[in-house]
Amino acid sequence: MNLDWSQIVPYIPFMLEGIWVTLQFVIVSIVIGFIIGTVLALFKIGSMKPLRIFADFYTSMFRGTPLILQLMIIYLAVPQLTGYDISPFLSAILAFGLNSSAYVSEIIRAGISAVDKGQTEAAMALGVPYRQMMIDIILPQALKNILPALMNEFITLTKESAIVSTIGYLDLMRRGQVVGANLYRPFEPLLFIGLIYWGLVMVLSLMGKWVEGRLSKGD
Ligand code: ARG
Repeated sequence: MNLDWSQIVPYIPFMLEGIWVTLQFVIVSIVIGFIIGTVLALFKIGSMKPLRIFADFYTSMFRGTPLILQLMIIYLAVPQLTGYDISPFLSAILAFGLNSSAYVSEIIRAGISAVDKGQTEAAMALGVPYRQMMIDIILPQALKNILPALMNEFITLTKESAIVSTIGYLDLMRRGQVVGANLYRPFEPLLFIGLIYWGLVMVLSLMGKWVEGRLSKGD
């Protein structure tokens, strides 16, 4: 065995910085994905056919093509079309946010359909307007049911984020590769960032369990 951990020591701060770089755009992407995803879910369950068709088409397109391809198109092809360069960060949040919204819209749509129909019927019988019914009655109940699935999406995005290393974004993954190339020793830095990703995912799932526990106290 040929392992020498001492050589990566000077690079540890550089690699640890990658945690924040990665989390930064994952968090922004999650927020974008959640907002657009909610709107798409409302389109899907709504009564307007063109909006429904659009939302279904959108979901099918973003789920039906590789995320890395979407990222490449935004980073490499959009500048060709518009004449403006786009930063790796902006490309990353666009690709991840738009991609995630397709998955989130399905999660939310399913969550809304799973809320008992009696709730809608009761709200309508009481004359609660549609908008208020959604915001005050249906969505809060749906949100509670879909929390585990949303947390799953968060974890998926955190791991998939590693593909931004392909457009030169200095995230955790890229930092591991850079250190490996500098040292001519890829194993130790890659294992090191592997442990960091694992730790991140563990923290995220613990947070999800905690929130879930808090929410189910009311039951
Ligand atoms: N590797 C998959 C792809 O390339 C991941 C898609 C992202 N998944 C997600 N839940 N946002 O399509």
